[in-house]
Amino acid sequence: MSSDEFLNDKWLKKLDRQSQMILDRVVFNRKTFGEVFDKQTLLLLGKLISDGLIDQIDFPISTGKEANIFRGTTPEKTLVAIKIYRTATMTFKHIASYIEGDPRFSYGYKNRRDVIEEWAKKEYKNLELFHDAKVRAPTPIKCVRNVLVMSYIGDAAKPAPLLKDVVLHNPQKIFDEIILFIERMYKKKIVHADLSPFNILLFRQKPYIIDAGQAVLLDHPSSQEFLKRDVHNIVSYFKKYNIKENERKILKKLMKKKRDES
Ligand SMILES: Nc1ncnc2c1ncn2[C@@H]1O[C@H](COP(=O)(O)OP(=O)(O)OP(=O)(O)O)[C@@H](O)[C@H]1O
Ligand SMILES: [Mg+2]
Repeated sequence: MSSDEFLNDKWLKKLDRQSQMILDRVVFNRKTFGEVFDKQTLLLLGKLISDGLIDQIDFPISTGKEANIFRGTTPEKTLVAIKIYRTATMTFKHIASYIEGDPRFSYGYKNRRDVIEEWAKKEYKNLELFHDAKVRAPTPIKCVRNVLVMSYIGDAAKPAPLLKDVVLHNPQKIFDEIILFIERMYKKKIVHADLSPFNILLFRQKPYIIDAGQAVLLDHPSSQEFLKRDVHNIVSYFKKYNIKENERKILKKLMKKKRDES
């Protein structure tokens, strides 16, 4: 179905006025909208607007592998990030290995949408855990079905850049803080599992950990392997700043600290 057909579909007429308005607001990308979002997602966005959680969707920040991220504004004029998991194109294979083995999530989903909604909920809960662990990350605000609303990292002009795209003035400080965040997560029994300069934002010279969907608890069978990979990615990246830290030493210290505390 072409996007125009999609938008002219009968169901559209069922949308309330505010939902119609949201369409007008998000339809800056009318061409692809119908292909990317299903009817339920659109209705959901309409509901978030009519419930007063968001007032408008400003513009797309990013189109990732699994989700589209938009900047939004609340009725109180606070900026938020809205992550919308694409129900049609998200790949199952990728997410299965993270959900399986996580006791927080049940099996036997009825359909693809269920799994994706579970995944969005997982990201919300993981962000909550990051906050409990005092890890700098977007604050989760609301998760409804495949839509996650969180605090926006950036200023009015533009979202914060990724760590990989900035030149650091104080690399050692940033490195130490990221390692501290890994430690704090580990203490709270959670591993990010996809940590890299692609999933860290730098805002006002401070790192923010993002993209928490795949984070797993320590009792996940691959948690140690994920932890090693996270540390490896960070240590490797900072080599270009002449920071030569030993991965094994970091891991040892991390595990020892946790043992001593428990
Ligand atoms: N809270 C936020 N505030 C500002 N920008 C954000 C926020 N969350 C995500 N972004 C931006 O959106 C991009 C994609 O977010 P995220 O990594 O969570 O999604 P993804 O689907 O995994 O995307 P990718 O496939 O690119 O990794 C980020 O690289 C970042 O630029
Ligand atoms: Mg990402």
